[in-house]
Amino acid sequence: MLSPSSTVAMLATERPIAVRILQRHGIDFCCGGHRSLADACAQSGITADLLLAEVTAEEQRAAPSPRRWDAAPLPELVNYLLIQHHRPLDTELPRLTGLVNKVCSVHRDLDPTGFDAIRSRWLALRDDLVPHMEKEEQVLFPWIMAGKGGDAGGPIATMEQEHVAVGGLLKELRVLTNDYRVPEEACGSWRALWAGLEALEADLHTHIHLENNVLFPRALDEG
Ligand SMILES: [Fe+2]
Ligand SMILES: [Fe+2]
Repeated sequence: MLSPSSTVAMLATERPIAVRILQRHGIDFCCGGHRSLADACAQSGITADLLLAEVTAEEQRAAPSPRRWDAAPLPELVNYLLIQHHRPLDTELPRLTGLVNKVCSVHRDLDPTGFDAIRSRWLALRDDLVPHMEKEEQVLFPWIMAGKGGDAGGPIATMEQEHVAVGGLLKELRVLTNDYRVPEEACGSWRALWAGLEALEADLHTHIHLENNVLFPRALDEG
């Protein structure tokens, strides 16, 4: 039974629909998921009881509910991560890079420092994500699939550090883009870029949550 002293990660794991509510309130549930609900909510200006009531209401509205991954076989979770969160980035990262290059050059005169910073933070994010996912796919996930997750403490710690770096870059991009608010003068490409970056942020938060808070602890326990 979840209470205000439960962690944000527990809420996102045990009641997966809560991810939507946490995102709506800007509450970090992946790298910062170890805070209590009471602490995290206080910073966002709501109470934990109100947040839990919103989760219950969302569960009653949503059909079907997202799957709980804390009880599924680990190979199924690894496959889900690959299909749902890794493979789409093979095309989405190049697509967004094209849009970043276009928007940041066409509109640079409006704010050279801002657009240069957005481009450099984006390229840093892409250049972190590609080798990170390669390491998960080629080294860590096969170990977990082979039931050797218990020996993977070192690689898992490295992946968690890389997640923190990715989370930091996502936060910087959110600030640099004014919370992805589209200016009135924005062209279609600019709108598409802000929408694409915001969707990528939401996707990466869920992706990292499933690895940090579900897959990795379970692999270390069960391996
Ligand atoms: Fe991953
Ligand atoms: Fe990862």
